[in-house]
Amino acid sequence: MRDIFETRDADAAGRIGELEVPRAGVTVETPALLPVINPHIRTIEPAALEETFGAEILITNGYVLYTSDDYRERALEEGLHELLDFSGAIMTDSGSFQLSEYGEISVTNEEILRFQRAVGSDVGTPVDIPTPPDADRDRAERELATTQERLEAAESVDTGEMLVNAPVQGSTYPDLRTEAAEGAYGTTLDVFPVGAVVPLMNGYRYAETVEVVRAAKRGLGADAPVHLFGAGHPMMFALAVAAGCDLFDSAAYALYARDDRYLTVAGTDHLEELDYLPCACPVCADHAAAELRALPDERRERRLAEHNLHVSYRELRTVKQALRAGNLLELVERRARGHPAMVDGYRALLDADLEAADPASKGTFFGLSGDAARRPEVRRHHDRLDRLSVDGERVLLSEGGDNDRFDSTWRLRAPFGPYPAALSDSYPLTAELPERLAPAAYEAAAEGVGRLAAANPDVAFTVAHWGWPETALAALPDGVSTLELGPDSEPPSDDR
Ligand code: GUN
Ligand code: ZN
Repeated sequence: MRDIFETRDADAAGRIGELEVPRAGVTVETPALLPVINPHIRTIEPAALEETFGAEILITNGYVLYTSDDYRERALEEGLHELLDFSGAIMTDSGSFQLSEYGEISVTNEEILRFQRAVGSDVGTPVDIPTPPDADRDRAERELATTQERLEAAESVDTGEMLVNAPVQGSTYPDLRTEAAEGAYGTTLDVFPVGAVVPLMNGYRYAETVEVVRAAKRGLGADAPVHLFGAGHPMMFALAVAAGCDLFDSAAYALYARDDRYLTVAGTDHLEELDYLPCACPVCADHAAAELRALPDERRERRLAEHNLHVSYRELRTVKQALRAGNLLELVERRARGHPAMVDGYRALLDADLEAADPASKGTFFGLSGDAARRPEVRRHHDRLDRLSVDGERVLLSEGGDNDRFDSTWRLRAPFGPYPAALSDSYPLTAELPERLAPAAYEAAAEGVGRLAAANPDVAFTVAHWGWPETALAALPDGVSTLELGPDSEPPSDDR
């Protein structure tokens, strides 16, 4: 792998990065969107992508060009940048998608790699085998072995300055995805797309999409740029970035426009069903919904595609700003509310091994719901409870005030649990949270008490709480006393 990717501003497993694309002579800021350009259709001209949307990179299909009577020779003579009229970076795919759709393609791995270089691609792709979700394990293993051979074969093809993708396959087997990623990262190839996830995303299987990405990330170094192949719906950008993806390609903006579908960060609307256009992009500012519907087919499709791209680029900027501010998980949580399957995706993310990637300190922790209890900050605080020292034999853990009759008093706050007062002003205990939390938040605090009690078996702990739910009280370890604070309660005393 070349030294082409630098990252900064991390949050959860997401990061802002700079991908150097030497052949194009450009540096692409990530997370980046690569609009898919079909050279035969061009719903939006690449020049307009650059001018209107600031696109720094796009993706087109090298195999479509290879097999095209109209474009093959022109692409070889003029080069892709001239043919498409685009000065940014151009990534090409290899025909693997056609292979998975039609069962065969008429080109070898080596030949399509040489072709991609010959037409001036900046990032080429070998012919990986996209094993679909839920494939037999045998098949997933066999096809992965072939993909790995193709990646290794790609190393010996003279690809010059062109970067080369090393797709990560393995179907829905997390261990195979990790193994595939280790194999890919072990080659000299450059960019690491997570492949064959389109059927997962089309089936709204966002939790498994996140699991597949996390499994792949375990086999890749932090310096590996990761592309989520075929992820073009803006609803999932925040989630995918938080899981560790840096690049996305969108065919959705054009495909959806063709069917009168209008993308939003909360999902997809049908133009027929919209009385108002809930967006401030130039298209939506210039047209009422009925006007847009009344446009002739081709113009309507183009306007819808433009709106879809505006929403997509805007969402990427929103994601980048959240990364910078350190509140990406808050954004993911907001986006998750748009669709139940996204809630599952968010929960899968929180259940993943995020603590290692997530920076220890960032902006204000602000959780909206019971899911705040599963955030990496809460887990990390619980881990820290094993190491903090406790003064005295009788210790009060209090949501209210101190009490002299204990040897010492610690603060207690859901969802974190107990902490010494001295830590009150440090992240994440400065969290801004609603007063009414979901039971899961109190259960997480009880778990924190359990961690502290387990690390200090000789200390007698008392929990003073404001009406914790039964489920949280039941989650406290045996041997921890409780007392409930009330509206008129005195500071808790140990003889009540
Ligand atoms: N486009 C969408 N999924 C894939 C994949 O798994 N491999 C390749 N090469 N292209 C894709
Ligand atoms: Zn719009």
